[in-house]
Amino acid sequence: MTEQALGFGVDVGGSGVKGAVVDLRTGEFVSERVKIATPQPATPEAVAEVVAQIVRQCDWDGPVGVTLPSVVTQQVARTAANIDESWVGTNVHDLFTQALGRDAVSVLNDADAAGIAEVAFGDEAARKGAVIFLTFGTGIGSAFLMDGTVFPNTELGHMLIDGTEAEHLASSAAKDREELSYKKWAKRVDKVLHEYDRLFNPAAFIVGGGISRHSEKWVPLLTVDTPVVPAALRNRAGIVGAAMAAQNHVAP
Ligand code: BGC
Repeated sequence: MTEQALGFGVDVGGSGVKGAVVDLRTGEFVSERVKIATPQPATPEAVAEVVAQIVRQCDWDGPVGVTLPSVVTQQVARTAANIDESWVGTNVHDLFTQALGRDAVSVLNDADAAGIAEVAFGDEAARKGAVIFLTFGTGIGSAFLMDGTVFPNTELGHMLIDGTEAEHLASSAAKDREELSYKKWAKRVDKVLHEYDRLFNPAAFIVGGGISRHSEKWVPLLTVDTPVVPAALRNRAGIVGAAMAAQNHVAP
């Protein structure tokens, strides 16, 4: 296997920072997945140190892709919904190149990264027409896909539904926090999807995040007309998409 075929991705989430070496031809991990609890407070310096620790632990010295639960434009984090406020305005390229001691670093939104991975290695539906890819986790992440190309930094998790942000209503963290049954939670997800459907009319929704592992418990309860397809890569997608972004020098 040539060096070229391998990449490294790190997915920074609300509860864990996870990284692995990825085979870019198959989307499979070729190292163990290293997970370290997200430092609290999740400041840029503290998170960058954890990212560097994961990269060191895997003995990786090539390009690194990093996802953040933030809008990222010109390699500057613009929002911070589920991480420390001090990310806003942080030049994330400078932050991670310093922490990792290398220039080849790409930083992008977590849901966009997961969407990119799903297009490359997931269900064929992700590559056809106008598709909304969603991740259900600490928040709700979104990636708009048009024939497999991402329109970056959409933030559908913050859309107001009856005066409440969609992710406060229907993330998987909301399910846990309010101890909702799948049935009750699916009703909320359904409401959110109906609203997205009404405004954006996609050909399909693809639903990812850890809770897509149990898609049989909630996807069949949804009443939205547009097909809802469980993501194929589940919570592996962020790491894989980050590794792909680094390889392709994608830096929104
Ligand atoms: C953030 C998004 C992110 C999503 C999933 C939201 O709160 O605003 O940028 O993609 O959570 O982590």
